[in-house]
Formats: sequence, structure tokens, C-alpha cells
Amino acid sequence: MARIGTGNQGRIILERFIVFEGIDGAGTTTQVRLLAERCKREGIPVFTTGEPTENCIGKTIRQILKGEYRVHPSTMPLLFAADRNEHLYGERGILSYLEKGYWVFCDRYVFSSLAYQTIENDYQLVTELNDRFPLPGILFYLEVPPETGIDRIQNRETKEIYEVLTFQEKVYQQYRRVLSTYQNSGMKIRIFDGTEPMERIHEEMWSFIEKFRY
Ligand code: TYD
Repeated sequence: MARIGTGNQGRIILERFIVFEGIDGAGTTTQVRLLAERCKREGIPVFTTGEPTENCIGKTIRQILKGEYRVHPSTMPLLFAADRNEHLYGERGILSYLEKGYWVFCDRYVFSSLAYQTIENDYQLVTELNDRFPLPGILFYLEVPPETGIDRIQNRETKEIYEVLTFQEKVYQQYRRVLSTYQNSGMKIRIFDGTEPMERIHEEMWSFIEKFRY
């Protein structure tokens, strides 16, 4: 069984479930990959995943993000929550891997909804949609200035609707607010300077999680 605990705010916390967050271009995808490779070399079983997912709801979200469809802003938190629900509880979902004894590394989770979807929707509404989901044991937040994030992603072939500086500046501020609300949740939060060399950040992440390997 997945090791489950209850946080100070009464929320279920899933041990060995690690979430990586940051604005666009913060470097979460690189860190997930480096940490997963390290764990595999060390004999720790890891399942890497991310949101939006590759399932049918996640694919629809990606089409919207690319601008292929337009939806009302209030539809977005609902879609992300539906994708997340399937991601957690569906066949070959996060819970199924935790139950089999894997560590699960997830590139974005509820904190992304709270930082991004609250720009165009009421904060409380997005919170209510996401309060039903368990928290990860560890949250790694990579902080980079919005200008740096935008610089890093500007050479990508496809642009997404949120990838504009003015929007990223708001998301950056919102992440700060979100992190502060989880200070006493029981989840372990580590904030990294995402402008540091990726190898240095990786080493810090590894030494942090290594303590929990047994
Ligand atoms: P991202 O991880 O940046 O994917 P990629 O690197 O392939 O573009 O995620 C895509 C976008 O989705 C990103 O701008 C953040 C956004 N997002 C939300 O707005 N809310 C959410 O709940 C999640 C999970 C992601």
C-alpha cells in the first residue's frame, strides 16, 4: 500500500509522491528527468509523470493551450481537475504506482492550477476544486524570474496561450501566495533558485530525498 499520512490541515499526504512546480521555463522537466535517472541508478523504483497528462482529457487541454480550441477561462480549472482525477485514480495512475512501491515524480499538480487558473478565475473556486486531491509528501518549487522563464522557452516551436510575460508575472506572484498557504500543511516544501546551474539544483534535490529512501 502507498504510505499515507494526514497533514496538519487534515489533508491526506502521499509519501513518496514528489511534485515539481514553477512558472513556464523554470526547469521542472529537466529536474524530474535528472532525479529519476539518479534514482534508477541507485536502485530506487520511480514512475515519472506530469500534468497535463497524455490521457484523453490531458490531450484536449494541450490542444486548448496551443490555441487550437478556445474555451471560456472558467472551463480550464474544471478540465485540469478532471485530468488530475483520472491521473490519480485511473488505471496505471499515480495511486496504482505508489501502491506497488514506486516513488512517483510528477511535473506539475494542484499547485499549477492554483497558480495559473486563479489569474482568470476566483481563487476560492479553484481551491475548492482542488481540495479533494491528496497532497504529495514533497513539493519542489523552482523559482525563476518571469523574464528568465520566457527567455528559456521562446525558441520552442509551439507557443502556448499562457506563455506571455505579463501572464507569467502574475503566475510568479500567485505561486508565492500558494506556497505560503501550504506552509503548515505537513507537506515538505523546498524552494530552489532555478537560475542556479541545473546540476547543482539536482544535487540538492537528491540529497534531500535520499534521506527518505528507506
Ligand atoms: P508544461 O509542463 O509547461 O508543459 P510543456 O513544457 O510541455 O509546455 O505545462 C503546460 C502548461 O499547462 C503550463 O503553462 C502550465 C499549465 N498548467 C495549468 O495552467 N494548470 C494546471 O493545473 C497544470 C497542471 C498545468
